[in-house]
Amino acid sequence: MNIITKLAFAASLATALTSVALAQDSNLSGKVVGFSQIGSESGWRAAETSVTKQQAEERGVDLKFADAQQKQENQIKAIRGFIAQGVDAIMVAPVVATGWDDVLTEAKEAEIPVILLDRGVDAPEDLYLTSVASDQVKEGRVAGDWLVQAVGDAECKVVELQGTVGSTPAINRKQGFEEAIAGHDNITIARSQTGDFTRAKGKEVMEGFIKAENGGADICAVYAHNDDMAVGAIQAIKDAGLKPGTDIKVVSIDGVPDIFQAMVAGEANATVELTPNMAGPAFDALSAYLADGTEPAKFIITESKLYTPNDNPQAEYDTRKGLGY
Ligand code: AHR
Repeated sequence: MNIITKLAFAASLATALTSVALAQDSNLSGKVVGFSQIGSESGWRAAETSVTKQQAEERGVDLKFADAQQKQENQIKAIRGFIAQGVDAIMVAPVVATGWDDVLTEAKEAEIPVILLDRGVDAPEDLYLTSVASDQVKEGRVAGDWLVQAVGDAECKVVELQGTVGSTPAINRKQGFEEAIAGHDNITIARSQTGDFTRAKGKEVMEGFIKAENGGADICAVYAHNDDMAVGAIQAIKDAGLKPGTDIKVVSIDGVPDIFQAMVAGEANATVELTPNMAGPAFDALSAYLADGTEPAKFIITESKLYTPNDNPQAEYDTRKGLGY
């Protein structure tokens, strides 16, 4: 191919790609989508909210945002409001797994597609179009596998900070971690309590664990279902005169900037990344569905990558810090 032919080819490819992009946008542009968000309990949640708003704007979607302040009743009210307004689609990050059948049935009867973001529900699959989330059992397993490798044959008493009671990440991340340590009798979960995915509760519960475990001397590791609780636990460990990351290992899930900063300081040992961009794949699925009824996969699974201090935490912090966390 000579240079002129190459340029012509590049130009026609660019035109083709642009028209595909425009065609994709035109399925969503001007559409009204209701988004029932859980609240702002964690840095990760704040980032998901920003990314969702940004993804909507880029596609010309009119996003109606409702913050449920951690309450399922507020989410149900918001969804009923979206149905009454006759929105084109609904996105919901369900705070807990159960109690959704009625409102999802109402959305289905109104022929409004519902997309679940980042958490699952215990409801018939035909009540929602798709669910965009991580494999949360795998996240727990990745965290547990890391600990198994890190401690080898040494005795290790773990304390666990669980997420919100009844939420799928709390249930599944617990299960995955337990699966990973099963058969490694030197590793035991000595204490396990909810910290509700918040920094403040993570700190408070960790303080209780430290008191109950010989001032923290008997604790080998803390496994937190999210980074915010881990950051709270790190503070509690420091307040008790111990070194997080050394005296007590810290492993958690999310990959927020603050945990990478803690890694840089030697105070956190491992995190499993959860992308805050659930809305991108969700809007892609919705676009195809609205265009010609293409049914997306029922479960769109995002990646679960492990990060440790060997993965250049400073660079990871730098790439994430401006993303709305
Ligand atoms: O559902 C995802 C979890 O919810 C995130 O790990 C946590 O930070 C958030 O609050």
